[in-house]
Amino acid sequence: MRPAVTGSSAPLDLAIRGGTVATAADTMRCDVGVRDGRIVALGDDVGPAARTIDAAGLLVLPGGIDSHVHLDQFQGEGIAMADGFRSGTVSAAAGGNTTVIAFALQRRGESLRAAVADYHAKARGEALVDYGFHLIVTDPTPGVLGQELPALVKDGYPSFKVFMTYDDMVLTDRQLLDVFDVARRENALVMVHAEGFDSIRFMADRLEAEGRTEPASHAASRPEVVEREATHRAIALAELAGIPIMVVHVSGREAIEQIEWARRRGLTVHAETCPQYLVLTAADLDRPGTEGAKFVCSPPPRDAESQAAVWRGLAGGTFQTFSSDHCPFRYDDAAGKTGPKARASFRAVPNGIPGVAARLPILFSEGVVKGRITLQDFVALTATNHAKLYGLYPRKGSIAIGADADIALWDPERRVTITQDLMHHGSDYTPYEGLEVTGWPVTTMVRGRVVFDGGRVVAEAGYGAFLPRETSGRRASPEAG
Ligand code: URP
Ligand code: ZN
Ligand code: ZN
Ligand code: ZN
Repeated sequence: MRPAVTGSSAPLDLAIRGGTVATAADTMRCDVGVRDGRIVALGDDVGPAARTIDAAGLLVLPGGIDSHVHLDQFQGEGIAMADGFRSGTVSAAAGGNTTVIAFALQRRGESLRAAVADYHAKARGEALVDYGFHLIVTDPTPGVLGQELPALVKDGYPSFKVFMTYDDMVLTDRQLLDVFDVARRENALVMVHAEGFDSIRFMADRLEAEGRTEPASHAASRPEVVEREATHRAIALAELAGIPIMVVHVSGREAIEQIEWARRRGLTVHAETCPQYLVLTAADLDRPGTEGAKFVCSPPPRDAESQAAVWRGLAGGTFQTFSSDHCPFRYDDAAGKTGPKARASFRAVPNGIPGVAARLPILFSEGVVKGRITLQDFVALTATNHAKLYGLYPRKGSIAIGADADIALWDPERRVTITQDLMHHGSDYTPYEGLEVTGWPVTTMVRGRVVFDGGRVVAEAGYGAFLPRETSGRRASPEAG
């Protein structure tokens, strides 16, 4: 339990004056007072402060929480992720984010404890924003199921990710059920990567046999039916096990239909989508030469019809969270998207694209500015619901008395063309190059401290702190909020 915020006549450390505060519930003209890293006052005049930031003309938003970010994650021999915790969290801060939840990946044959220790070592002293870890379970041995997962949930890791595809990560249905059963007992939330392993292998074998080895075949090998089937299966297994699940990176219409079907059955199925499913399509993978490799991610971007379905889902409540699925590789690099094996076949192109810096501007511009979602939807989808679902609320995810002063000052009118140099990530490209957006983060503040301002890092790496998280027993539901 953290100490309560008490009324105090001590001056504030910081006052943010003249801005417009937006939360998942309201928009209000008020000042924000900060002391000891927390919000202690909201009002017309919050009194004297050691430092004042003039936020006239700006939105004062809860800092983005990106609950789906891969940093320094093991990708197999010879493949290197382009961001560690330093550059990845700089990029996050550049994009108005104050918390990321990354992944601790268990390698087969390894204990989960060892994986967690490994990822802590990667992050220690590196992060600019606060961070937590989901646990990727690839080897659910009796020891992992019986001892490690229950203990790790209690230690602040109350969310697992499981994969229904990828050679070195896929779980059988029985293994999924075993992990789901632990989640039920421990009140953990399971994030499911829903694409069918055998279906993809069947399609990829066929495409390769036909000599279709180019990046566009990545999308052709994973059509919507592959995601639809796995989404349905994940939902059915979760129903059998008696747990809610979170279907991550939902790409389009057919998977959405499964999720909405489950909801009509009264099941609790949460869903996440990502910027690539709003502004990219499978046609991007068909760009000339190896260029399409820049857009290879899973599930792949679809078509205009699916983009429209994703927008309906964002506006209509099908999706609780909008995350980046930041999974950065370099393009012009043997350890990245165009290594020798990747050039020989789409199957060897590392899956994933960078997006942690572009997530908020894309949703704000394409969503709020274009009138597809409200500002309150935006805050819920990018911050508040992440905090509620993943055990960080009310410390994170809103602008409220007692919450951490995690704030993005946002210029709603600034027009920006997204370019690689604005992303501050380790990839040598952005898949969103040239996209024009309206609305941009100007200052990012974590626990009352400005960490990124005017395009520059202004705090030291290592300022970002590890966040142990709480289980769903105490977790507020977005729907209830
Ligand atoms: O292509 C993707 N999404 N790579 C990241 C790993 C994952 O499945 O989330
Ligand atoms: Zn995934
Ligand atoms: Zn939900
Ligand atoms: Zn991912």
